[in-house]
Amino acid sequence: MTQIVRTVSELRALVRGWKVQGDVVGVVPTMGALHEGHLSLARAAKAECERVIVTIFVNPKQFNNPDDLKKYPRTEEADADLLRGVGVDVIFAPAPEEVYPTGFATTVSVAGVAQPLEGALRPGHFDGVATVVAKLFGMTMADRGYFGQKDWQQLQVIKRLVRDLNIPVWIVGCETIREADGLAMSSRNARLRDAARRVAPALYAAMTRAALAVRAGDSGALETCAAEVQAAGFDSVEYIELRDASTLGPAEGRERPLRLLAAAWLDGIRLIDNIPV
Ligand code: PAF
Repeated sequence: MTQIVRTVSELRALVRGWKVQGDVVGVVPTMGALHEGHLSLARAAKAECERVIVTIFVNPKQFNNPDDLKKYPRTEEADADLLRGVGVDVIFAPAPEEVYPTGFATTVSVAGVAQPLEGALRPGHFDGVATVVAKLFGMTMADRGYFGQKDWQQLQVIKRLVRDLNIPVWIVGCETIREADGLAMSSRNARLRDAARRVAPALYAAMTRAALAVRAGDSGALETCAAEVQAAGFDSVEYIELRDASTLGPAEGRERPLRLLAAAWLDGIRLIDNIPV
């Protein structure tokens, strides 16, 4: 049976009981509006942990645009039905005051990996993510945390966070789940109108061609990729960059794994994607 829990004290009482029995606890942090990508994380957690908590919390601290926060879909009932189908033990869906009570004064800020790309374009975003994820780990006392590779930079920021703060949670990065046409699943996709939805897979298609071109030594591959994305009908490309896969620093040589990361606007929606090179 899936229980919906709203307070930290209730959650902790449950988790303490599980830990006494020696159960491994997995957590899947989400902001709700669940899709198959989230469910794949919950299923991965179910396969590896005796107990699974999915958190649903639209974290105001990670939105640098208040309009984006207001428009963020809130679909708790539908989310709960989906999670019952997967058989998670607990949905932790706290109110904002439970997470950030009056007097809350701490920010967790990760340097280095959190600074380029999304960090530069969305000031404060990763501070908000790191702060809430550190809190969710503390609240849930989980042993394992499941995150999607779709948000590649976020995944690297969270890995850095747990290493730097000795947070005893093992981070599992799960493969991006894609629609049949290649579009990476995202809660934002639902906001694309029909014509834009047909254009959206062009981002992944161009990135896939660019990754092959980079491997073949084509020095103009990233410019070609940006031009192809624009030509397909995207409004603008914020970045298409090749980076060191774990530090997100400049891609130097081929000794370390590299990652191609992109952000582009379509129909007023910001889409991101990334693939290995
Ligand atoms: O990826 C997300 O949905 C959010 O950034 C996370 C990790 C749940 C933190 O609010």
